[in-house]
Amino acid sequence: MVEVRAPDGGPALKVPVARVDLEDADLRRVEEVFRSGWIMQGPKVEAFEKAVADFCGAPHAVAVTSGTTALHLMLHAAGIGPGDEVIVPSFSWIATANCVAYCGAKPAFCDVDLQTYNMTPALATAAMGPRTKAILVVHQFGMPCDLDGFARLARERGVALFEDAACAIGSEYGEARIGAFKASRAACLSFHPRKVVTTGEGGMLLTADADLAGKVRRLRNHGQEGGHFVNIGYNYRMTDLQAALGIGQVARLPVTLSKRRAIAEVYRKELGSARGIALPAEPSGCRSNVQSFMIRFPEGGRVVRDRVASALFSQGIATRPGIAPMHLEPCYAGTCTGLRLPNSERLAEDGLVLPLYASMEPSQAAEVARAIASACRD
Ligand SMILES: Cc1ncc(COP(=O)(O)O)c(C=O)c1O
Repeated sequence: MVEVRAPDGGPALKVPVARVDLEDADLRRVEEVFRSGWIMQGPKVEAFEKAVADFCGAPHAVAVTSGTTALHLMLHAAGIGPGDEVIVPSFSWIATANCVAYCGAKPAFCDVDLQTYNMTPALATAAMGPRTKAILVVHQFGMPCDLDGFARLARERGVALFEDAACAIGSEYGEARIGAFKASRAACLSFHPRKVVTTGEGGMLLTADADLAGKVRRLRNHGQEGGHFVNIGYNYRMTDLQAALGIGQVARLPVTLSKRRAIAEVYRKELGSARGIALPAEPSGCRSNVQSFMIRFPEGGRVVRDRVASALFSQGIATRPGIAPMHLEPCYAGTCTGLRLPNSERLAEDGLVLPLYASMEPSQAAEVARAIASACRD
């Protein structure tokens, strides 16, 4: 095991919030590429695309430089543009909205459910208007959204459905893994170090739509095809060095996922009946990859959340607060005057992301849980 911390794994604490899951074999694959002399997009990117597509059950996969650029190309290639609005949950990483803005369209912010931290079809309906062209669902922290419900809503309203699956590699919806769902146009993964598979930076579009995959493939490489620049494209190419880092992690995913889920189970068992603590709900028929495990303090709110976080920090245990709702961030607040999304605002106040990584020992998770329960009682 290579000891490398995720960038927001915090200071060198006894228990960081995250730790990347790299092995010496991954390093050897990168070294092979390094010594081959071909380090840009090439055969390893193709092999990585195939490995991820096979694992997720997606017919087509296109690797790019990040989850953000995958989302950008997905919406751009699907024709989202000026005058359009795209429904997005406010409780998400800023890239979910920025990719809409890159296309000249407007993100229309929607609230999320307090149990799953995801948008629901009912909440999305409330945010829709005459300019709505698409719904971009987020499987927040790896928890799958109600894809059937969203597919029904999108069909009824004649809009497109897209998935921001940045956190959700290996999550399951019914019998299928995220990325295989046919009723959305496409799903985008991120390989940022805080995600379950990392290439340092990286992303991938998964789709059953061969035409969309072809457009994204062209757009990632300056719009080039047949020796001509047929569209104004981008340089969003992943390198073979990055892809080589990811290949072994995809092969190990079944083991990685079961280790992550075992840690989540310890948290559920130890904290499930603790007073004043709410755990995320996993809807029936869904399985999260547990990219992150966020608990809430619905009674004590921010005061208790911050008290618990600092008690844990003093014991060498890192945590992170929930995500800042995007409709209140300065770059979007001006276009959202008067918009209140109470659940998103509440999750940012009372949510706490706990340490979780594949190499974490179940006994460490039990220790973290006991420290939380005790800080909560103080
Ligand atoms: C929900 C969500 N969407 C998009 C992104 C953007 O991915 P990246 O950092 O790879 O650009 C992230 C994470 O970083 C994310 O959590």
